[in-house]
Amino acid sequence: MQQVRRLVRRGLELTGLIGPYFRWIERRQAGRASVSVDDGRPMPPRELIMVVGAAGGDEGWFSKEGLADAEQFRALALAHGVDLAEPQDVLDLGCGVGRIARWLAPELMAAGGGFQGCDVNQRLLDWCAANLQGRYFVNALQPPLPLPEASLDLVYAKSVFTHLREDTARAWLAEIARVLRPTGLAILTFADEDFTLGWAPKPVRPKVGRQRYIIWNDALEGSNYMSAWTTREHFAALAAPIFDVAEMVPGRRDWPAQAIAVLRPRWHGRGADSG
Ligand SMILES: C[S@@+](CC[C@H](N)C(=O)[O-])C[C@H]1O[C@@H](n2cnc3c(N)ncnc32)[C@H](O)[C@@H]1O
Repeated sequence: MQQVRRLVRRGLELTGLIGPYFRWIERRQAGRASVSVDDGRPMPPRELIMVVGAAGGDEGWFSKEGLADAEQFRALALAHGVDLAEPQDVLDLGCGVGRIARWLAPELMAAGGGFQGCDVNQRLLDWCAANLQGRYFVNALQPPLPLPEASLDLVYAKSVFTHLREDTARAWLAEIARVLRPTGLAILTFADEDFTLGWAPKPVRPKVGRQRYIIWNDALEGSNYMSAWTTREHFAALAAPIFDVAEMVPGRRDWPAQAIAVLRPRWHGRGADSG
């Protein structure tokens, strides 16, 4: 049965029908969550929540985990010298439907900072732009960003590298380093060996550690359909040409917490004549 399912999926991938099929599945699952949550922030429609997490469009998960991520990123940034209570320029790369932005953007902007969010998905961004504080723009799956070099204090990306092929991940690491100020930080989550052993599809788990970068469902890059699984050592190696690792928080097997790399750019991005 599993074999048949795999063949059907491969057929859909090859014919390009996997996109509409995957979106149909998401819409169907979005109808299943029923509890409404009022946390004092704008709440997106369930169909959009579904696109950024496999939680059936669950508003409770969206609210609680978004706040938890915002607090964790704020604490990590502070521990490494970027205080979000002061004016800082921040980019939420792959911001989705603002799960974290709805908590961080108001606070950052009240402190006199600048908040931007970007994503490859226009529908998610339209909702963010209409409902949240900050500036939102669409970017392509591959860099560059329409931002000047050395213009940001913090770039964070939650659960974005988990959906990118290795070459794309490498290209984004270089682009993030380009837009960061020399004193800036990147906070990037990814699927390390611990997270993989707890949460990867079963066929992926035995490969972890034996293959450095594993792609599951090799189609629709950037969407939840494709997932990428690696190790802390290999993620650090991908970042090594341009970043120093300030901290590496391991993922968890017992709770769906991805690993977090806190990175400091070593690449200063400026020629001798540009100061
Ligand atoms: C699992 S969702 C997470 C969204 C959001 N960061 C959050 O934590 O709720 C992954 C997001 O990354 C976006 N994405 C994937 N590849 C991207 C890329 N190359 N540039 C910007 N966004 C990307 C997807 O469109 C999607 O919104």
